[in-house]
Amino acid sequence: MNAIAKLSLVATATALLGATTTLSLTGRDRSPSPVERGRYLVHTSGCHDCHTPWHLGPNGPEPDLKRALSGHPAGFELAPPPAANPGWPVHATATNTAWSGPWGVSFTANLTPDRETGLGSWTVDEFVAAIRTGRHQGRGRQILPPMPAPVYAQMTDADLQAIFAYLQSIPPIANKVPEPLPPR
Ligand code: HEC
Repeated sequence: MNAIAKLSLVATATALLGATTTLSLTGRDRSPSPVERGRYLVHTSGCHDCHTPWHLGPNGPEPDLKRALSGHPAGFELAPPPAANPGWPVHATATNTAWSGPWGVSFTANLTPDRETGLGSWTVDEFVAAIRTGRHQGRGRQILPPMPAPVYAQMTDADLQAIFAYLQSIPPIANKVPEPLPPR
């Protein structure tokens, strides 16, 4: 190899090394904050499907983002659920926030940081434990279907902590969700 070829090899190697360093630096600079990561996970993991009441928007049924993640609306008039039927065991209201099934009737929780009616007084460890164990704050009563806690329990601690960070950053909405009803 002549001197010029050697020089150009060194130059290429140096350029490549530079590119790798720049890429990894840029990658690090762009890595999302926990709140951004949590927002992404909440919006791609279906939390709005059940925890935001649905209404009829201009393009059809959609989550009512004015009540984002505030759970089943208190005071919502509900007729008794249809009788359980082995072929169609589960029913949901039009808001997608109240569900009847073999477990009784469950109402989706208020996930906003309201201290009295939402997750405002929860710690991050209580939130992670709730998802991991499927129990209220990791130690209370069992969290009923259709909350997919066993699915979200597969997430990493960092992702669950990010979800909690995002949920604590959204506007608090006071909405006292009813207690579940036992099976009839
Ligand atoms: C298919 C519907 C559904 C989806 C999707 C869903 N949830 Fe739930 N969730 C529920 C229902 C219903 C309850 C209330 C169950 C009960 O009262 O036992 C609940 C309860 C919870 C609770 C327990 C609150 C408490 O007071 O113990 C937390 C925390 C929670 N959900 C977080 C989430 C998060 C975060 C997401 C998205 C990553 C999510 N849920 C997605 C239906 C859902």
